[in-house]
Amino acid sequence: MNITKVKDYEEMSFRAAEYLLKKIVKLKKPVIGLATGSTPEGMYKYLIEKKEEISFKNVTTFNLDEYVGLSKDDQNSYHFYMNDKLFNHIDIKKENTHLPNGAAKDLKQECRDYEDAIREAGFIDVQILGIGVNGHIGFNDPETPFTSRTHVVDLDESTRKANVRFFQSIEEVPRQAITMGIETIMESKEILLLISGKEKAHSLARLIEGPVDEKFPASILHKHAHVEIIADEAALSGVG
Ligand code: F6R
Repeated sequence: MNITKVKDYEEMSFRAAEYLLKKIVKLKKPVIGLATGSTPEGMYKYLIEKKEEISFKNVTTFNLDEYVGLSKDDQNSYHFYMNDKLFNHIDIKKENTHLPNGAAKDLKQECRDYEDAIREAGFIDVQILGIGVNGHIGFNDPETPFTSRTHVVDLDESTRKANVRFFQSIEEVPRQAITMGIETIMESKEILLLISGKEKAHSLARLIEGPVDEKFPASILHKHAHVEIIADEAALSGVG
């Protein structure tokens, strides 16, 4: 794992955007894995700023996850988030953007179709990841098998609480989600993990210094050949 230390959230976001833009320019048909949450928002802003210089017409995207039971236009769905924070502002073709459909009738089939779509696209060139305070990647909470593929998960109470800030109340936070599996994420050719803030300091220290263990899902990243981490000073403050 290669770690780049940056000053703060702004610099992390800027560096991440630069990293992605270089890939987009270099690859003929880039396939980019995207994340939601607070961490990548700044990166999306920088990507939008470059829209006059760099075209996203050849870019295909796959998001990590989506809540079960929310329609695509629900303001709390990750479909809505991605359209609002990125896709509506760049020249990407909407048909090339993919998120699991959390409103699908047959969720298991939806998971299989999502896996097929990633494979048919030639797998993900760069997967953007954030990390949960419990070490989750995607919605793969602790004890998710490292061999998991795209699947439906019952969300951890800690994960629901961490995400209540986007909803009116905890009751509104969905109890299930569809997430890319850990093995699916690990098939990405490169992984770019972004970490900012002192509330993530413990998680980053655990990731860097701790063992590879299903109790801390992100620890599997030690087994990947090409992981770039961009972390700010606050996030790195717990590293010994
Ligand atoms: C989001 C996702 C999650 C988040 C993680 C960190 O698509 O899969 O794993 O990356 O929960 O969330 P934030 O960035 O809000 O701290």
